[in-house]
Parts: sequence; structure tokens; C-alpha cells
Amino acid sequence: MTFEKMTVAEVRKVGVIGKNVLLQGWVRTRRDSKAGFSFVELNDGSSLGNIQIIISKEHPDYETIISTITAGSSITVQGVVKESPGQGQATEIEAKRVELVGTADPVTYPLQKKGHSLEFLRSIAHLRVRTNTFGAVARIRNRVSFSIHQFFQENGFFYVHTPIITASDCEGAGQMFHVSSLNPDDLPKNGVGKVDFSEDFFGKPSYLTVSGQLNVETYCAGLSKVYTFGPTFRAENSNTSRHAAEFWMIEPEIAFCELEGNMEWAEKFLKRLITDVLRDSQEDIAFFNKQIDNTLIDTLQHVLSSQFIRLSYTEAIDLLIQSGKKFDYKVSWGIDLQSEHERYLTEEHFKSPVILYDYPKTIKPFYMRVNEDGKTVRAMDVLVPKVGEIIGGSEREYRLEVLESRMKEQKLDQESYRWYADLRRYGTVPHSGFGLGLERVLMFLTSIANIRDVLPFPRTPGNCEF
Ligand code: 4AD
Ligand code: MG
Repeated sequence: MTFEKMTVAEVRKVGVIGKNVLLQGWVRTRRDSKAGFSFVELNDGSSLGNIQIIISKEHPDYETIISTITAGSSITVQGVVKESPGQGQATEIEAKRVELVGTADPVTYPLQKKGHSLEFLRSIAHLRVRTNTFGAVARIRNRVSFSIHQFFQENGFFYVHTPIITASDCEGAGQMFHVSSLNPDDLPKNGVGKVDFSEDFFGKPSYLTVSGQLNVETYCAGLSKVYTFGPTFRAENSNTSRHAAEFWMIEPEIAFCELEGNMEWAEKFLKRLITDVLRDSQEDIAFFNKQIDNTLIDTLQHVLSSQFIRLSYTEAIDLLIQSGKKFDYKVSWGIDLQSEHERYLTEEHFKSPVILYDYPKTIKPFYMRVNEDGKTVRAMDVLVPKVGEIIGGSEREYRLEVLESRMKEQKLDQESYRWYADLRRYGTVPHSGFGLGLERVLMFLTSIANIRDVLPFPRTPGNCEF
């Protein structure tokens, strides 16, 4: 008899009833009935749901096999797919032969019982993908990453690999991790007692990138529509549920495109990610809707069917002041909006995604296009309920003189940005782009409240385990 290798997801479908199959995976639970059978719940990550394996006492070496098949162990099963009389499952497997591949000591294996807290599971990040929650997050993260490429490829964008190591601080916030090959115990010093970076690997200070934007802009000025999608690093010492020191960012850049066009791309892009996940990750999304937030599916559908609110920063400030709400951080024109303000707008006032634009230039980076008023820049942030800022972007300053004066204002070393300014010297064009944090969109799609639970191995202040 031959047994066809299949996944758990495949054998859960009625279409395969009657087939001889071979399954391999990890045991979630085992239960022994007095009627002469043992029931094993098997999962291989291909779907949220398990497949039930029924092992009869007639199985050769039944006693020895069964005693080793404990939660967490790995097995190979050969059997026949049957229609299941049980509720909540279409099929089950009548085992012909079960083989233990790897044991899991029932005394020390940490995932014995159901229902561990997310905090506890963070302390076993190397094993947590074997739980329903983290298996579902991993599959959705995979689906969204694929959709991101599909969306841009179908719309004529080129995928550009921007460098991870850089000498420039794109966001100008000074939140960068140093990259150095100098010996920290014996740093070379210059005449004034400072570290002599001319002796370092690159001959000058270098860092992990906070954004691929400046580099991707150069490719935009030649390929027209581009995007980068990669790891991004920020040494911001803010221990919040929405910030990670290492996260993934998607940054499209579009030539001959102004801020309005940029907003349209951002909205279309987010909606596409929601559409794909609702269609292709139904079982996982239904799980989050049941376990974490029973308004999740309704919220996602509502976002899909409504137009994002567009509101200038100045209008938002007026709204916040008029709201009469007591915010911890006082509202006045010129402040950088805090999470409490963003959440009021998107969760309470509009109950919808909001695109805020035209921010004060004093709180935004040097590269954003300055408006006629001389006070605001063509920035945009997309805010969504529960998460707050999910996208940050802008139209770029494409006038050389204005860009140079902005660099002076912000005390940037113009010589090291000369290559960036060259784009304004040779064939400059209006262009725009934005950055979407992959983890932020995953929080939105799963209703998981802490960024540490949508990253396989989160890096946050004081935490670099695994
Ligand atoms: O608003 P940000 O800082 O914008 C930029 O980096 C621009 N260069 C993007 C561009 O125009 N090409 O970051 C963009 C997005 C944020 O909206 C947020 O979703 C995410 O990146 N993000 C973070 N996600 C997790 N942890 C952090 N520490 C993050 N910082 C930003
Ligand atoms: Mg931002």
C-alpha cells in the first residue's frame, strides 16, 4: 500500500476522504479512551486546526508507542482519511502505522496545558510558534509579506534592496545603532579626546539604517516607481507596545506624484492587504476575532468599505482642543501628536482611519516639501483605530535651494548628503513616498496589542534573547 504525503491542512478537507496518506508533525494533545482507542491531535503548521489521529489498541506495540506520544513530540503517521462523526471537524485519520520521530519530555516541555499568557510565551519565543496564536500570526505575517510584493509588482513598482549599513540619519532623530569594528576596550582617540572614526571599518561613523528612503529615492529618479521592504533599526529607548528596535518597513517611492497621489496609493495599498487577509487567512482571522477581539472582522470590513478621512494637522489640533477632553499631554499648534491624541481622532471622533497631512515643519525631517505658508510641510500620517500611526510619509522637497536651506536649519552636514541633493540638481521631479511598519499592520489585522507578539523574535530595550 502506498501513502501519499500530505499536510494537515490538506487532509482536513472532505475531498480527500478515502485516501491513504502520510502525515508528519507535532502532537498537541493525546487522550486515551477506555473503548480501546487513543486520540492524537496533530499539527504541522499548515493550518490553525489540527487533524485527529485515531490509534487503535490493535496497533503493533500500542503500549510503548502511545506512552511516548506526548504533547510536543514529533511523529509520522500512515493512515486512511475518514469522514469524522465529531463536531467541528470534517475528517479524521484512522492510523495504520504510527512512528515516533522525536520525544518531548512531559515533565519539562513547557506547552503542556492550553491557555498560556502572551507574557509567558514571550519567554519561550523559540517554542511559541507551536501554539495556535503564534502559528496564526506567523501565517498571517507570511501572507501579508506576499501581498505586499504582489500589490507593488502588479502596479508596476520595482523592488529595490537598500543598504542596511549607512552613514546617514534619514529621520534626523539620532536614534541610530552604531556599526563599528573598533575594539571597544581600546578605542583610538583624536587630538580632542574623541573617538577617531577614521580608523574604523568605513573610515567614518556608520550605523544600522532607520529607513531605506534616501536610497530608494535615488532609484525612483530613474525607475519611476520603486519600493524597498526590509529590516529597519531604531535605538529609541521607548518601551511601548508599538515600538521595536528592529522592525520591517515597506517604503514605496513614486516619481511625478504629489501628496494627494501619495495618499491614494497608501489607502489602496492598506485596503489590498486587508482584502487578501480576509480572503486567504479566514481561519486565522476568525481565531483572532474569537479569542482577542470580536469586533475585528467587522472593523476590517468597515475600513474596506469606507473612504479614509483626510484632515490637515491644523484642523486636527482644532478638533482636539474643541473636544474638551483632558489629555495628559496638552494640545496646542506645533506639538508632535501623541498616541492619546491620535487614538482620540481615529477611535473616538471618526471611528475610521484618518490621514493627517501638512504638519509643522519643526517636527518633521528635512526632506519633506515645504508648503507655501513656509510653516508646514507636505507630510502625511495614516492613523488607524487601536494602533495609531501605521504609515508615515510625505511629498519630498524637490527644489534644491529649499532643500539646502532645510538642511542648514537642521544643522545637517551638507557634504555627506551631496549625493541626495544631486537628485535635485539633475532632472528633479516632484515625488512622494511613505513607510508602512509591517508589525503595525499585523497588529491591526490580528488585534494583537503588543508588537512583541507579532515579531518572531522581538528586539526591544533590554531584550535581545533568542
Ligand atoms: O514615520 P516613520 O519614521 O517614517 C519614515 O521612516 C519615512 N522615511 C518613511 C518614508 O516616507 N519612506 O516610520 C514609518 C512607519 C511608521 O508609521 C510605523 O508604522 C513604523 O514605520 N515604525 C515603527 N514600527 C515599529 N517600531 C518602531 N520603532 C517604529 N518606528 C516607525
Ligand atoms: Mg512617523
